[in-house]
Amino acid sequence: MAIEDVIARLQEIRSEGLTALDAVRDAQALRDAEVRFLGRKGPLAAIVSTLGGMPPEERREVGRVANEVRTALEGSIAERRGRLDAEEGDRRAEAERVDVTLPGRKPPLGRLHPITQVIDEVVDVFVGLGFKVAEGPEVESDYYNFEALNMPADHPARSMFDTLYLEPTDYGQPLLRTHTSPMWVRVMEANPPPAYFTMPGRAFRRDVVDPTHMAGFHQIDGLAVDEGISFADLKGSVEVFARALFGPRQRIRMIPHYFPFTEPSAEIHVSCFACDGSGCRVCGNEGWIEIMGAGMIHPNVFRAVGYDPEVTGFAFGMGIERIALLRWSIGDIRWLYENDLRFLREF
Ligand code: DAH
Repeated sequence: MAIEDVIARLQEIRSEGLTALDAVRDAQALRDAEVRFLGRKGPLAAIVSTLGGMPPEERREVGRVANEVRTALEGSIAERRGRLDAEEGDRRAEAERVDVTLPGRKPPLGRLHPITQVIDEVVDVFVGLGFKVAEGPEVESDYYNFEALNMPADHPARSMFDTLYLEPTDYGQPLLRTHTSPMWVRVMEANPPPAYFTMPGRAFRRDVVDPTHMAGFHQIDGLAVDEGISFADLKGSVEVFARALFGPRQRIRMIPHYFPFTEPSAEIHVSCFACDGSGCRVCGNEGWIEIMGAGMIHPNVFRAVGYDPEVTGFAFGMGIERIALLRWSIGDIRWLYENDLRFLREF
């Protein structure tokens, strides 16, 4: 080949190479183009390999142009590579961009269990009336659960409470408290009169579980001991409570009842908040709903705690689950204990 033709071929390789590089859009294509034009089997290498057979003059000339072409192609490749890297960087930055203007993710917020809500509400009402809150043990002695509450060992009223007993110990047979009333004894032992306390907590009975009974449940008791406390104070306090919880138009009535630890004792009914007393499904056509036991604290209870038996006081106690079932028309007490979030989210 004449030297002019070799030089022309070299220029061709340059412009073919530059054109090809111009069309390159990604790193793989760039590597392919590099191999194709500058590789050992490429057109430039083919020409360079013939240099040895050329006269010195031509060799110098062809070698110079071949170098220029190589440099031009290498420069173009480097420039391409830089641009592709920059584009890749931009793409990645865009993909990983954090949009700080997006609204934040709300952390899941829990809520209070309906039982806790009822306890809190009842406690709030009585705290508003000046009562303090006290809590105490669920495992009790016979003394606090029965004896000090005017139910000696052979007292028939003990059969009102289906008691769960624990293993006997050296100091007696502990039991699971059947009501929260043992707390009366504990708070009066610890505080001289006047004593105003409300006492929420768990209680336990050997009940067969059904839509309205659980063997473990909650109660809240209240007690007010002072000079000159009367049945009217009990009635007034319970009325305030019933209106706060069930509605401002509710009435209450007190039906004579028997409890060993109060005398007189009463069952307290609130006018049905669903039908306002005319009779419906919620109240079983009664117009009234029983919500608690109450009465004037028996002098024997005052004697047991070392109070002057002439002091006066009222007490009351109610089941929390019952209040929750009534107020939200919950069909089955067990739903309160299944931890089904679909249910719990309703409250
Ligand atoms: N502790 C009783 C029960 O669980 C209810 C009750 C509480 C009756 C307080 C009362 C009282 O007379 O004052 O059945």
